Amino acid sequence: MNVLVAGATGYLGRYMVNELVRHGLNVRVLVRDASKLDDIGPYHAPTIDRSAVEIFEGDVTNRESIQGVCKEMDLVISAVGLTRNAYGHSFYDVDYMGNKHLLEEAEQSGVQKFTYIHVLHGEKTDANILRAKIKFCDELKRSSIPSVVIRPTGYFSDLTNVLKMAKSGWIFLVGNGQARMNPIHGSDLAAFTVHQSLHKVGEFDVGGPQTFTYDEIAKLALRVQGRSERVFHLPSQPILLFARFLALFRPHQADLIKFFVLSMSTNGLGEQFGERELESFFRQYKLLEENEEVI
Ligand SMILES: NC(=O)c1ccc[n+]([C@@H]2O[C@H](COP(=O)([O-])OP(=O)(O)OC[C@H]3O[C@@H](n4cnc5c(N)ncnc54)[C@H](OP(=O)(O)O)[C@@H]3O)[C@@H](O)[C@H]2O)c1
Repeated sequence: MNVLVAGATGYLGRYMVNELVRHGLNVRVLVRDASKLDDIGPYHAPTIDRSAVEIFEGDVTNRESIQGVCKEMDLVISAVGLTRNAYGHSFYDVDYMGNKHLLEEAEQSGVQKFTYIHVLHGEKTDANILRAKIKFCDELKRSSIPSVVIRPTGYFSDLTNVLKMAKSGWIFLVGNGQARMNPIHGSDLAAFTVHQSLHKVGEFDVGGPQTFTYDEIAKLALRVQGRSERVFHLPSQPILLFARFLALFRPHQADLIKFFVLSMSTNGLGEQFGERELESFFRQYKLLEENEEVI
């Protein structure tokens, strides 16, 4: 079976590629810059062995640059999305139009299935990041290609922000800290995604094996950093007002703030899957960061 992974240089994409290779599948990766494959990925996600994959360089926002990318592929998995940096693009450009270009390529090449990494409760807000993702899901529903939509909770990688705050000994949470979520490790999410992509069709809400309130995650991060408990709760309304003001000149950052406030004030619970625990991830991440500082 031939599988294309788009977004292979990202946090999740790297685990996905390695999981597919472990399954003995033929993997093609769509990347903007192949040299990134040799480096450790975001949040210490693994490198990718170039000899184990076929490489296609292209940018999903540029339709011509990805022409032929899906040729001879049976399955396409897209983990393409804007997360931390925008590089001049909007969520509409990448999460919607970019994925739409990829879907059009998949349709032209007769791909059998298209898997898309969406987000849990993506339908609940007016943040542009979610609007773009929902719009793409609508395209997928209209397409003749059977699809799998994975709707994950927060990734462990996202919670490293809490771990970083804990290092200073002060954690600021938005809301009362009581919203619950079951975050998931990239490796567990990759295993779930590959399994569903090979065997199912439909939409799947998924998270990791443990459920926490945000307060509990904050306390865990402080414990891992060896700090005493100092968690502060900020009301969401002033932050949302600030985001509206920021949107006038930094729309990408403003949108991420809106998304962040929403995430911290809503329960984010998906089907419990996987075995990796947040505390081990935090401890390992802390060690890796400390080693990097020494180097
Ligand atoms: N992080 C979370 O907690 C979370 C939770 C739920 C859902 N999600 C969604 O899951 C997906 C993957 O998340 P992640 O944390 O793995 O993100 P990530 O590390 O930022 O990876 C995103 C990938 O998309 C690629 N990409 C971006 N723009 C592109 C373009 N124009 N052409 C080709 N490739 C492009 C990036 O390539 P470069 O390396 O070249 O930049 C990277 O490989 C995203 O759609 C995200 O919104 C994330």
